[in-house]
Amino acid sequence: MSSRNKKVFFVNYAFHVSENVYEPSEDSFLFAENLVVKKGGIVLDMGTGCGILGIIAAEKAAGVVAVDINPHAVRCARENAELNGVADKMFFVWGDLFAPIKMGEKFDLILFNAPYLPSEPSENKSWLGCAWAGGVAGRQVIDRFICEAPKYLKENGRVLLVQSTLSDVDETLRRFEECGLRTSIVVKCALPFFETVVLVKAER
Ligand SMILES: C[S@@+](CC[C@H](N)C(=O)[O-])C[C@H]1O[C@@H](n2cnc3c(N)ncnc32)[C@H](O)[C@@H]1O
Repeated sequence: MSSRNKKVFFVNYAFHVSENVYEPSEDSFLFAENLVVKKGGIVLDMGTGCGILGIIAAEKAAGVVAVDINPHAVRCARENAELNGVADKMFFVWGDLFAPIKMGEKFDLILFNAPYLPSEPSENKSWLGCAWAGGVAGRQVIDRFICEAPKYLKENGRVLLVQSTLSDVDETLRRFEECGLRTSIVVKCALPFFETVVLVKAER
């Protein structure tokens, strides 16, 4: 790993965060603190970044598939899974949302700390921009995710999605419900500059 890596700690986990990979932040930690994984479940960690959520989930899950559009993130997450002793339960894939997941594959739990901030079109041109920039309304990736996620959920499956109040949480609830899922807010955390980060749950 490059000497420019940062190191991030959460409870008894350690994560190297390499260049061009999203460094776990308030949203990641809020998610991690409220992440409930059922023993033996199969989990999809969408937009895995350095792997923080998937690696924590792997402690209880029987298996975790971790996806990212950023190849640096996929490599970094794989290395962190080894560092934290859960590599044998995890499978890493590079690609755009559900494109690398086989149709018919279903999960008990799908996690996504999405790119959710309103942004100019040029801002998702870098790998780091891609981690936070959600297009003009902040919903470019979120809406595509909501449209696909229900097809990959088992009966009684759950989706956990983190976003900001700056990208219209009510619209997220409405879209999930339109797909036949029940929604609730798990937790909220107010940040400076009139923004609240929200963990949304959607379940069958
Ligand atoms: C806010 S970061 C979250 C990273 C990590 N899960 C965490 O909580 O720290 C969003 C992640 O989603 C990835 N991402 C963005 N668009 C994506 C897409 N279309 N398909 C898959 N991953 C995507 C980014 O590369 C980035 O790693």
